[in-house]
Amino acid sequence: MGYSAIYEAWKADPDRFWMEQAAAIDWATPPSKALFDRGDNIHEWFADGMVNTCWNAVDRHVEAGRGDQVAIIHDSPVSGVTRRITYVNLRNRVAQLAGALRAKGVEKGDRVIIYMPMIPEALEAMLACARLGAIHSVVFGGFAAHELAVRIDDAQPKAIIAASCGIEPGRIVHYKPLLDAAIDQAAHKPDFCVIFQREQEVAHLEEGRDYNWHGFQYGVEPADCVPVEGTHPAYILYTSGTTGAPKGVVRPTAGHLVALNWTMKNIYNVDPGEVFWAASDVGWVVGHSYICYAPLIHGNTTIVFEGKPIGTPDAGTFWRVMSEHKVASFFTAPTALRAVKREDPKGEFVGKYDLSHLRAIYLAGERADPDTIDWTTRVTGKPVYDHWWQTETGWAIAGNPAGIEPLPVKIGSPTVAMPGYDVQILGEDGHELPPGELGAIAVKLPLPPGTLPTLWNAPERFRKSYLDHFPGYYETGDAGMKDADGYLWIMARTDDVINVAGHRLSTGAMEEVLAAHPDVAECAVIGVTDELKGQLPMGFVCLSAGVDRPHDEIARECVKMVRDQIGPVAAFKLCAVVDRLPKTRSGKILRGTMVKIADGQDYKMPATIDDPAILDEIRAAVKPMGYGG
Ligand code: COA
Ligand code: AMP
Repeated sequence: MGYSAIYEAWKADPDRFWMEQAAAIDWATPPSKALFDRGDNIHEWFADGMVNTCWNAVDRHVEAGRGDQVAIIHDSPVSGVTRRITYVNLRNRVAQLAGALRAKGVEKGDRVIIYMPMIPEALEAMLACARLGAIHSVVFGGFAAHELAVRIDDAQPKAIIAASCGIEPGRIVHYKPLLDAAIDQAAHKPDFCVIFQREQEVAHLEEGRDYNWHGFQYGVEPADCVPVEGTHPAYILYTSGTTGAPKGVVRPTAGHLVALNWTMKNIYNVDPGEVFWAASDVGWVVGHSYICYAPLIHGNTTIVFEGKPIGTPDAGTFWRVMSEHKVASFFTAPTALRAVKREDPKGEFVGKYDLSHLRAIYLAGERADPDTIDWTTRVTGKPVYDHWWQTETGWAIAGNPAGIEPLPVKIGSPTVAMPGYDVQILGEDGHELPPGELGAIAVKLPLPPGTLPTLWNAPERFRKSYLDHFPGYYETGDAGMKDADGYLWIMARTDDVINVAGHRLSTGAMEEVLAAHPDVAECAVIGVTDELKGQLPMGFVCLSAGVDRPHDEIARECVKMVRDQIGPVAAFKLCAVVDRLPKTRSGKILRGTMVKIADGQDYKMPATIDDPAILDEIRAAVKPMGYGG
């Protein structure tokens, strides 16, 4: 069957479609049906099934005779190590870790925060939680202590599992002091912490609270898999929204298993036993779905890559990893390939490596610019597929179903809606727009298995953020259009979220930090276009009356505050002091116009602007930062 027939079959009978996919999962108790409509736009999948994620990702492959297959390859150019862990080793390590967590009181439903770099132990910690039915929440290593503290207070973890350090090119990231500071700042205190000591830095452990990863596992009884309800939260992953408070996206267990398993063949076109590599980080949704869970659930070998596309040691690293480990399917963010292209425009490194196992390259996380797709296709000779999804969905809303049939690529489009998603372009009045017209991208409810049922501790925010604006639909927060062939085109965010090097960030969160500077009366943060990272945040601050300190000193303090409070990942380095911000007569800051000025684009003078002269000041302020055209 081709894509259209499969999509239509799903649409005609979604329950049957998803029950067929569910047959590929091992259930403790099989579900009686797929969809449970609870009314009031609440939908649950496989709610009466009982299942365990770790069993499906690890143990069942050992039982099926795949025990000696490599499950995880750790390729770490920053530490000079390559390590392989087979499925049977992984099973034993995860069962032991889960046993140690249980011995310290972690049970089904308890939350566990994981704050770790790109090492296999990060995946083992996730899987150990899954084994017990504990709910993990992984926090990206590039966030500062304050962001970690916010997540500790929201998730209220019984335990935190961390490493002593991360390794960024040229510097060690001292995780343990960040963790200690976060626990100090948080109102909630975990019962205990488990610290994986890396040889690059051995952290100080606090007596009675912190346990050594190895020591605390010694002599414990390994834990078996605990079956949980299909709707039981597998994990919480915090992502940026409009305000400084991150949204805790909840992932339901059974839908996650069924949907991710489906994607591995149908989208990424790999069979069990083949090597799959997503060059992302476990702290992001791509890392959850495609470094940890999906490849393991499907019986693939996954790569945990601890390095950068360039500089570790050179722009050939990606091709080296693919060649050395015989990668069949590769997934990364466009920004990473832009970095490689900038260092190696002729693609000379590609020729040094054997990419004969590689079938295709998949891009997501931000808009894939045509130049990058063209270049990558040309230098590798492989198909390059853009696909579009979000933390909220956990898997692709739109993509090229290469494992079903590769559809013709239209550069700039992530291709077509995947089965499970009825994607529509809506006008402000909530009616579907005709092909070619730009509108809000929405998905008709119910969302498919694996997508978020709610936000942790915030069911009202869930409704308000996603369901209220267009009744009967999930609002994606992206704007775009569909063409006459049903291809989707993703154009822009409709909210204050920006995308910096494939990392989703909130300008609202940065504004909250700047507003706390004692000399700042008012501020705005916008996303300006950047050739490498897609977007960069740029801040404008107005000072309180009577402040007469040097402006560059205040701007430097603002930059430091964002780095200290949100983290280096915010990449907030551009900040200007201005007298006033451009506003409408009703007081709304004209951020869109400011973006156009900084990007050097033409803009229409907003009819409602209070004082057009302020725009000249903005133009003058962006020039010294190298913007404005
Ligand atoms: N822990 C601690 N710090 C981190 C970090 C981590 N896991 N990841 C990034 N940082 C730091 C970086 O060291 C950098 O710090 P600096 O300001 O001191 O230089 C800062 O956060 C910004 O990082 P980033 O925006 O990633 O830029 P970079 O200069 O380190 O690298 C690229 C540029 C393009 C090579 C890099 O952004 C990249 O490979 N991105 C891939 C994006 C990706 O995989 N996204 C996941 C979504 S699919
Ligand atoms: P995240 O939740 O971090 O995965 O970010 C999701 C957001 O990134 C989406 O809502 C889009 O704004 C953007 N995004 C992700 N993939 C793509 C893509 N292929 N094309 C355009 N934008 C994308």
